[in-house]
Amino acid sequence: MDLTLEPGATALLGPSGAGKSTLLRLLNRLADPDSGAISLHGEDVRSLDPRALRRRACLVPQLPSPLPGTVAYNVRFGPSLVGRSVDPTRPLELAGLSSAYAEREASRLSVGEQQRVMLARALALEPEVLLLDEPTSALDEHTRAGVEATLAELALRTGVSMVVVTHDRGQANRLATRTVNLRDGRIDG
Ligand SMILES: Nc1ncnc2c1ncn2[C@@H]1O[C@H](COP(=O)(O)OP(=O)(O)OP(=O)(O)O)[C@@H](O)[C@H]1O
Ligand SMILES: [Mg+2]
Repeated sequence: MDLTLEPGATALLGPSGAGKSTLLRLLNRLADPDSGAISLHGEDVRSLDPRALRRRACLVPQLPSPLPGTVAYNVRFGPSLVGRSVDPTRPLELAGLSSAYAEREASRLSVGEQQRVMLARALALEPEVLLLDEPTSALDEHTRAGVEATLAELALRTGVSMVVVTHDRGQANRLATRTVNLRDGRIDG
């Protein structure tokens, strides 16, 4: 595929197995392509430190994978690696979790709650690009609307760009200005 992701929000749609998650993983070097190249602002991502790249283009994975420990620990962890101390309250609130979650053990939360912890972890890093892999797939309608509102507001306020994988065309339309359809690892139409 030949694809340029512009600033703003892009949705990735396509059937299961189309390569949506793989594309996100390529964008922050959790995987490297066998051939071809990917660049960020014209710079080949292979020339960047993977950890620095992952703070700039931060992936919220399809399956939550919290660190053992409290929710607050999870949110503080990424910034702490670069010597930044964050108050977890704000990122949690943005992700739709009250501060009452801060001291709970992350691995004991429901999948939908863990999804929001993973989003809060990403927001705490203040990335340039959020790579969101089905960020609301485990959420009820009300909570999903809350997370969508947060993402839309965040984009407006901070100018963060987003690549959002979704199976929900409505969500694609609500969140993104452009939709890319994938099928069998290629751009479809
Ligand atoms: N590292 C890898 N090596 C070989 N094949 C892979 C690798 N990672 C993913 N695949 C295959 O690539 C295809 C696309 O997988 P991917 O996870 O990107 O799909 P997806 O579009 O995110 O699907 P879903 O909607 O089910 O999450 C699948 O057939 C998968 O088995
Ligand atoms: Mg996937």
